[in-house]
Amino acid sequence: VYDDKVKDLLGRMTVEEKLGQLQQLTWTGDTGPGGGQTEEVERAARAGLLGSVLNLHGAAHTNALQRMAVEESRLGIPLLFGLDVVHGFWTTFPIPLAQASSFDPAVAERDAEVSAKETRSNGVRWTFSPMMDVTHEPRWGRIAESCGEDPYLNAVLAVAKVRGYQGDDLAAEDNVAACAKHFVAYGGAEGGRDYNTVDVSEQRLRNLYLPPFRAAVDAGVATVMAAFNTVSGVPAHGNPHTLTGILKEEWGFDGLVVSDYTGVDELIAHGYAADGADAGRLALTAGVDMEMVSTHIAGHGRQLLADGRITEDRLDDAVARILRLKYALGLFDDPYTDEAAAIGAPTPAALAAARETAARSMVLMKNDGVLPLDPGAGSIAVVGPFADHTDLHGTWAGPGCRRFPTAGVLDAVRAAAPGADVAHADGQELAQAVAAAEAADVTIVVVGEEPELSGEAAVRSEISLPAGQQELIAAVAATGRPFAVVLVNGRPLTVGDWVDGVPALLEAWHPGIEAGNAIADVLFGTVNPGGKLPVTFPRAVGQIPVYYNRENTGRPYDPANADEKYVSKYLDLADGPQFVFGHGLSYTTFTTGEPRPDRAALTVDELTGGACVEIAVSVANTGGRAGDEVVQLYVHDPVASIAQPLRRLRGFSRVTLEPGESTVVHFTLGAEDLGFWTNDPAGRFIVEPGRFDVYAGTSSLAAARCTLTVH
Ligand code: IFM
Repeated sequence: VYDDKVKDLLGRMTVEEKLGQLQQLTWTGDTGPGGGQTEEVERAARAGLLGSVLNLHGAAHTNALQRMAVEESRLGIPLLFGLDVVHGFWTTFPIPLAQASSFDPAVAERDAEVSAKETRSNGVRWTFSPMMDVTHEPRWGRIAESCGEDPYLNAVLAVAKVRGYQGDDLAAEDNVAACAKHFVAYGGAEGGRDYNTVDVSEQRLRNLYLPPFRAAVDAGVATVMAAFNTVSGVPAHGNPHTLTGILKEEWGFDGLVVSDYTGVDELIAHGYAADGADAGRLALTAGVDMEMVSTHIAGHGRQLLADGRITEDRLDDAVARILRLKYALGLFDDPYTDEAAAIGAPTPAALAAARETAARSMVLMKNDGVLPLDPGAGSIAVVGPFADHTDLHGTWAGPGCRRFPTAGVLDAVRAAAPGADVAHADGQELAQAVAAAEAADVTIVVVGEEPELSGEAAVRSEISLPAGQQELIAAVAATGRPFAVVLVNGRPLTVGDWVDGVPALLEAWHPGIEAGNAIADVLFGTVNPGGKLPVTFPRAVGQIPVYYNRENTGRPYDPANADEKYVSKYLDLADGPQFVFGHGLSYTTFTTGEPRPDRAALTVDELTGGACVEIAVSVANTGGRAGDEVVQLYVHDPVASIAQPLRRLRGFSRVTLEPGESTVVHFTLGAEDLGFWTNDPAGRFIVEPGRFDVYAGTSSLAAARCTLTVH
């Protein structure tokens, strides 16, 4: 739609001005090394040699810089301001891994809507979110930003986020451009070590890592960010196969590809580019349109053109992608932000949304009946290092985390149980915590990880509770008094033996600004927990990677024949994970029925022509409280030309049921759900004839099964 305008503008631009549009500079070093070269940023803006700025927000600040670009540069092309608004700007929602636990796309969409509004009103029209890196690596700190180990769940939530950020019209004043990141396979980093090598077959790339990106592109995501890792030896920033072959040509993506922070320069350290000029050439040629922070494309572009090492067509294509986005965002019509209308703090409605989202994202891992707590309890002890902690925003929280503390658990418990005598001990002194537990009717132990222990470049080789916390749990357990453990963390943890002695365990993740209130809502049963694990909890680090959608081996472990030596197992660990993907309990109970297909057989041609099978699954609340259940549908293709995962999530539905109420949920399975991508680099998706097993239930262990036959 903006082609004529873009063409006209391109025709009036010098090579330097074109290269300038491809440059993004950072205002601060908040999200990577360097930064803070603010004079250089201003100079480039005035000269019309800058396309975008990251890490600057606040309408007055962005307007001031925008004025330099619009009013002082030759062509007056507006700047595009970008920021990592990953789970909230002022109003911090739970970390994305927590939001994934909700198994509820509405939760992700609402975070994105609230975030977009706050972000845009503060001068920023582009967020580097959603992150959709499927990962099997709990050691990797960035698992906190992802939606876990499943491509389908990541895809559904990515689409919801894109919808929430972008709405129907990028120019509308509550919307911002989204960014699908990191393209691609960043979550496959060897050993979970950030930025590390990823060697991945074409079929795994396409079946595991690419689906969320494809879904985001189909949903109209405006931008895509390249990943720091190599993809089978070729760095993602210089990878023509993924950036151009798959993303731009196969999928027809016409938005802009931005590099990650110094990602173009890093082509040198990867051992892929000889020098800066080579890095710029390789990145631009592979498909990067805008360079974040390092300056090789803009810096060497003129010479590269003169030497014929890059083409003017490719340069124009990159500029056109950037200008199109600026037009779509309405920047040419109104480049400024109304300073008087800037949202300066979380609104009550935003806080309510954050609280509800956080409670909806919690997972009840274990409960022998100690939960929910009685708000009429006489005495409650709240102990542990996070009992009265007011920074549970989690990693990659927006500017709000520096201004607005999170609600603490201690205060929230006091508010939820106003008649109770509430004691507090931070657990530093075990004796004090033990005394508090001994004197209380019930104790809440709040343990976990500081937000800094997850996120970018926050990798742990051990993922148990940090020092002293297991001892605290053991000491409280030794009192023999009732207690519940609340985990606040950014990744799956190895819970170790202590979990056996714990009467109740609630996974709260890093819940955001309303942390304490949402935790209290769940502990006291105001909210009946309904979240499910979007990621497997390993028994030990040595078991990683352990994930539900694995392939079988030729010698699978058989529990009925546990002494067999020559099978795939660990000598020193029980088989299987500590907690499986999709696990999560409730204060009520549910039963689910057999999956019932509306047809038992169909042909490959019918499927590839768009035919589907409808699967009905009944679910009933058999307990005494209203509550939520997530009905999950898994597929297995037992005989295929490429060994298939034992289970693949292909549908889920979170329902709320009153006691005694039942309903039927419906799923649709089509070619996309029954077929798979082959190893063909040109991209070949096939559906093979044969039997398919379809499982329905309340976790990835779902046993109820039906079969479909594809002829
Ligand atoms: O968007 C981020 C990315 O996820 C990691 N490196 C820095 C970028 C910009 O802040």
